[in-house]
Formats: sequence, C-alpha cells, structure tokens
Amino acid sequence: MALKKYERLAAELERQISSNLVKPGERLSSVRELSRTRRVGLNTVVHALSLLEERGLIVSRPQSGFYVLGPRVPSGVKPPAARLTLPKEVQVSELVSTVFESVHHREVLPLGAACLDEALYPCEDINRLVRGVVREQPELVGRYALPPGDFEYRRQISRRLEKFGTFVAPDELVATGGAMDALSLALRVTCSPGDTVLIASPQYFGILQALQGLRLKVVEVPAHPIEDIRLEQVEEALRRSPITAGIFTPNFSNPLGTLMGDEKKAALVELFARHEVPLIEDDIYAELSYQGLQPRPLKAFDTRGAVLTCSSFAKTVSPGLKVGWLAPGRYLEKVKALQLASTMGGGPLGQQVMARYLASKDYERHLRVLRLHCSVQVERFSRHVLAHFPEGTRTSQPKGGFVLWVELPRGVDSVELYRRALDSGISISPGTLFSTRDLFRHFIRLNCGNVWSEALEQGLLRLARLATQLHKASAR
Ligand SMILES: Cc1ncc(COP(=O)(O)O)c(C=O)c1O
Repeated sequence: MALKKYERLAAELERQISSNLVKPGERLSSVRELSRTRRVGLNTVVHALSLLEERGLIVSRPQSGFYVLGPRVPSGVKPPAARLTLPKEVQVSELVSTVFESVHHREVLPLGAACLDEALYPCEDINRLVRGVVREQPELVGRYALPPGDFEYRRQISRRLEKFGTFVAPDELVATGGAMDALSLALRVTCSPGDTVLIASPQYFGILQALQGLRLKVVEVPAHPIEDIRLEQVEEALRRSPITAGIFTPNFSNPLGTLMGDEKKAALVELFARHEVPLIEDDIYAELSYQGLQPRPLKAFDTRGAVLTCSSFAKTVSPGLKVGWLAPGRYLEKVKALQLASTMGGGPLGQQVMARYLASKDYERHLRVLRLHCSVQVERFSRHVLAHFPEGTRTSQPKGGFVLWVELPRGVDSVELYRRALDSGISISPGTLFSTRDLFRHFIRLNCGNVWSEALEQGLLRLARLATQLHKASAR
C-alpha cells in the first residue's frame, strides 16, 4: 500500500535521525520550515511529527520545538524468582489509603495512584452530555437504574466489544459502579470467605484490598515482566491447591503493563475450564494499547460462560461518573440478585451519559489522543528514570496503560523512599503493596498519567536524588 504523505515525511525524518544527521538532543527543523521546504501542509508535518513522537524518537518541548531523543538503554526489570506461593491470607498495608488520599492533595506530585491528570479526561464533552440528558429527562434523577442497568448503556458496550471481535449480548451485561464494584461482585458470586484465589504477582493493590475485605486467601503466580504468567505454573497451582477462582489482567496488567497474546489467552481459558474453576478478568486498560488496535479479552475465548469480565471507563473517560460493567457469563442471575440485594445497581444518569458518549465519534477520537499521550509519557518517564536514578535501576516495558514498574538496586527500601518522597511533596507506590509476600521491597510503581511540566521534571529529579541517597546508604 502506498505511504501517505505524512508517513513519507515521517520515514524521511526517521532516516535523518538513524543516520545521525540530527543527533540526540538536537532540535529538528520547525513545523513551518518543514512545511515550506517539503512543500506539504502544516497538518501533514504535525501528523508526521506525532508519529515520530509516538515511536519514542523525538519529544516536543513547549514553545521550543521537537528534539531528538537518545537511544533507549535496553533495561527491563528482572524476572521474579519463579516460585509459586502457598495459600495465604491477604493483609494489605495501611499505606494504601495514604497513596489514594494523596490524589486529593494539590501540592503533592501524584505519582502514586494510577490516575490521569484531569486535563486528559474529556470533561467538557461529558459535562455537555450531562446537561443534555438532564434537560431532556429532568425526572431521571428520581429513578433507580435497577440491575442489570440502563439498556442503551449495555447495548453500546456490547457494540464496542463486537467491534473488536467479542460477542456479548446487551442482556449478558450488568452495569456496575466501576471496575472494583464489578470485581467485588464477581468474587462474591464465585467464592466464599476462606477460599483461595489465584492471582499474578505483582498484583494491583486494589485487588488485594478487595480480596482481604472478602477474607479470601491467595496463591501468587510470578508474572514475568514481558511474558506475564507461565501457564505451566498456573496449571501446577490449580493441581496443587484448592483454587476457587482466578483473577488476571491479560491486557496491560497493573503494574507491569504486559499483554498476553491470543493463543495464551485461549490456553488460559481452556486450562481453567478443564479444572472447572471460574476465571475473573480485569480489562480496565484494554482501550489504552500503544499499538492502537484493541486486544481481545479472555471472554472472547470463553465457550462455557466461565469467564467473568470486569471493566470501567475510569481510566479513559471519567473516574467521577463511576460507570463500569461486568459480563458474568453463567453467573448472570446470581450477579443481578446480589447487586439488587447490595447496592440496587448504579445511577441512571452516569450510564445514560456514558451511552451517549460511546455512541459518538468523540470517544474514538479521544482514545487516539489519549493512547498517544500515554505511550509518549511512559517512554519519557522510563528514559528519565534510567538517566537519573541510581545505577542498576531498571524499568518495565509496558505495551499499554500508564504505569511504570521500576526496579531499584537491591537494598533500596521502597517504603523508606515512599516516606522521604512524601516529605518532599511526591507520592509514589512502594513495591511492597503489590504482593502478600515481601517480594518487591526494592520496586516502586510510578503513575505516568500526568501532563509533562517543569514541576514534574523537577519532582522526578528530586525522587532520583532520594533514591540515590538511599542506595549509597545501603551500600555502606
Ligand atoms: C487494574 C485496575 N483495576 C481496577 C481499578 C479501579 O477501577 P474503578 O475506579 O473503575 O473501580 C484500577 C484503578 O487503578 C486498576 O488499576
């Protein structure tokens, strides 16, 4: 297929960079110069430059232009010790609440909780839709959206899943108050207190908190930083321990950002089906793939209704609307009954607003910009960390989402770093929060969902200095 004009220009600029005609740190010709000398429109140039930025070759500095980035030091986090753990009760550190709370403190740099900067959410569009829905149906706020929730909301989610190759009928979906609400429902209909759930390690601490709240035990399967969990180990765990359910995030896990291939997804679903164990998936980051193409959920490979898919729009559209969904497979009736008996379902306003947004072209347009932003920002964080943190620091290589998992030299205590960073106005997530074992003491997770700024750059440098001080002290 013939290249488009902007792709030709991007390829030419890429050659200039790879041949060292323009070196790392140097500025590319300005947008106007490129438009004049190549006889193409300004839009074509901007498009070409965005493509190079997306590939991590250049970076834009506001009011200054586009600069060439240096070659990335290849440095992934090391695979964990490949051992399965025995069933263990979950005890999440109380630090979790301070990591969440710091989101509300404007003076603290929010690198702890996985939250996008408010400026990156389509707040104007959503507020316009809220006004429209309220104007047209002033009586709506006087109603419940009883389980399974607003039909049009579920129909739009069903259409979106279908667009990417997964068929789940609107009647097989339940609207929830976010992904955690969906996960909690999925766990409660499949497990009872004292049961054991199989999870990947490191694991998002919100899920650990939910497991603790339901008094469930866990077996942790080590997740490789690129390849994710190993199926042989999953099988061994299923054989060895009385596992009642599994929870996995096959599309851009948190904190590693790994992506499971379709073959592996199919094999995982088959493995759980063979052992007659329900499989819960958290698909909250699926829309944030750096490759653009949305990966399929485990649900796409489920023929027995044994996969329960949970997601929400908190990471893409609005955390404040609290709209999520659950595709519970054969647990549908149980989920609806439990939801009726617990929360009576979510709010109709948020569901209708989200339905309208999903039906509009704005959603896809917004996602394109957001995906690009996330990939550029994660890459930028990674380079920064590798350049300034103590020698031996490694970073994950996420394929989607907006968190970075950082391995510090052994001996650097992430809880101590967390405390010192908070004193210095920076919130981070210490690695100890991501497991029930003390496996990730020298790891931290950084939220890259912010807009790059001088304050952010200075904050990262301060964090690097604190990590270096701790590293030096530990080496003495
Ligand atoms: C993997 C994962 N699941 C679920 C959530 C929470 O989703 P929600 O706000 O929709 O409950 C988060 C938030 O950080 C997350 O990272």
